Amino acid sequence: MTEDELINSYPHKHLLGIEGLLPTSINFLLKSSNNYVDYLNNKKNGKLDILKNKICINLFFENSTRTRTSFELAGKKLGADMLNISVGTSSIKKGETLIDTAMTLNAMQPDILVVRHHDAGAVKLLSEKVNCGVINAGDGPHEHPTQALLDALTILKRKKKISGLKIAICGDIMHSRVARSNIHLLNTLGAEVRVIAPATLIPKGIESLGVNIFYDMKSGLKDVDIIIMLRLQLERMSGSFVPSIREYFRFYGLDREKLNFANPDALILHPGPMNRGVEIDSELADDIDRSAIFEQVQMGVAVRMACLKAIIDHKLKAND
Ligand code: NCD
Repeated sequence: MTEDELINSYPHKHLLGIEGLLPTSINFLLKSSNNYVDYLNNKKNGKLDILKNKICINLFFENSTRTRTSFELAGKKLGADMLNISVGTSSIKKGETLIDTAMTLNAMQPDILVVRHHDAGAVKLLSEKVNCGVINAGDGPHEHPTQALLDALTILKRKKKISGLKIAICGDIMHSRVARSNIHLLNTLGAEVRVIAPATLIPKGIESLGVNIFYDMKSGLKDVDIIIMLRLQLERMSGSFVPSIREYFRFYGLDREKLNFANPDALILHPGPMNRGVEIDSELADDIDRSAIFEQVQMGVAVRMACLKAIIDHKLKAND
């Protein structure tokens, strides 16, 4: 592949994670997403036909509001036929295995499968069994690549750069795929990434991903430009990782007092769903000068449009 092709395309069949992607691929997806933000901002723009006659299936084994809707909207804006399959109404409830479900859907010859699954690695496994492109919409605590891309786009829109920024990811690092994908992406693009959490919520060996670890908000938030708050993922916890929710909020919940430890123009991000009064103070979450939480949702549609298009373009090229 020529250098020009590397800069101007996404050279993979699937989007399974951020780990291992070259900066050129990440920048290409971000640039393409940014073009779609401009497109979406112009209310006069209707549907595009870039994905006309393409079939895209959303296969979600876990609950989702934002991610599933966002993929659906993104596909529809590009003119694709979007289908939604959720566990509650499918044969998965009747005991069909992941691979059988994938093979059944594969037989219907979709162009893209967007998959969310509760096990790390399940989406990659599935991608090895089907013919179409696969996008990981979150696999257990492993990766959530489109979330990291939309977080990066939100940061770029507000701060005009990523390289050189000090970024703190705070909360349940242990169970968070958002944290992992963000660490890979932000490090690849030259940010300085730190994680802040109680010791029980820091996974072993996380420093090997190139982050500094802090156990308290005061030292962790010092001089940071971006604060990414994470939800306590109670559904992934067996046993108790924090003494009590009240205590957790007191020490790790982001409120005005703790925000003052960061740079005066530090921006707050949260992937949602938010637990107000647990990891973030409700009034702060709604402060549009400090928090970009709803902007993230807007960026999400543009990012997913860019990812769907990149996967289809790769497929078309491969068939040349
Ligand atoms: C995140 C997820 O599902 O990993 N949410 C999302 O995709 N917007 C984070 C979370 O559930 O806390």
